[in-house]
Amino acid sequence: QTGLKTKRIGQKIDYIESCPSTQIIAHQLAQEGTPDGTVVLTEAQTAGRGRMARKWDSAAGKGVWMSIILRPDVVPQKAPQFTLVTAVAVVRAIEEVTKLQPKIKWPNDILLNGKKCTGILTELQSDADGIQALIIGIGLNINQEKEDFDPEVRDIATSLKMESGEMASRQKLVQSLLYYMEIYTQMYIEEGFGMLKILWESYSTTIGQPVRARMTNQTLEGIAEGITDDGVLQLRTADGKLHGIYSADIEMTD
Ligand code: BTN
Repeated sequence: QTGLKTKRIGQKIDYIESCPSTQIIAHQLAQEGTPDGTVVLTEAQTAGRGRMARKWDSAAGKGVWMSIILRPDVVPQKAPQFTLVTAVAVVRAIEEVTKLQPKIKWPNDILLNGKKCTGILTELQSDADGIQALIIGIGLNINQEKEDFDPEVRDIATSLKMESGEMASRQKLVQSLLYYMEIYTQMYIEEGFGMLKILWESYSTTIGQPVRARMTNQTLEGIAEGITDDGVLQLRTADGKLHGIYSADIEMTD
């Protein structure tokens, strides 16, 4: 009994006790032709991965570690928008299940009181015909205490329990998350990014703020003015130039 209210996402759920990474399993399933909306869910990951080849702490029972396989009929350039849409779904789910007020840090970190409680990793299987599968990985920290985190991330990571003092139900969070993923991905596919961009911006800590963007070969400082319809961050530097940032680590400078 999953208690799911969805028709598309989570109709097939692959639940695994422990695995290296749900992303790896999801890639395999996608290659074998698994349907749109398949979810891979695990208790523990032994090699959870994050953006930019970082690792992701994924201890048994401490959070929601899952990957969602989508097969949208859109061009690969639209993949980053699905990450933004996912961020809105995560925020809505946390708001629904807890009393917390999460914020989004561009592109896809979910923060509570300035610390990261959720990461999103979107990977792509594509060919000349377009997107074959989008693998959206979500790592949501729920029950960790400070010392459960790797010393390297201890000062920047948090969990729902650390911020609210209460244990949130993992099952409720998964149900709510899949529900909002269904609603918002459908909205995106049918109506485009317009409404979702407004929602995303309303939850964002980045927009309107002075930030430092560290990229592989340069660092820029300026004001984050907004995101484009493609999810590109618009950064205005002191010389008045507007830069499009596709991928970077963002720090607030104020
Ligand atoms: C990040 O912020 O760097 C993204 C972290 C994504 C973690 C999730 S946990 C489920 C899925 N499987 C993985 O190995 N990574 C993602």
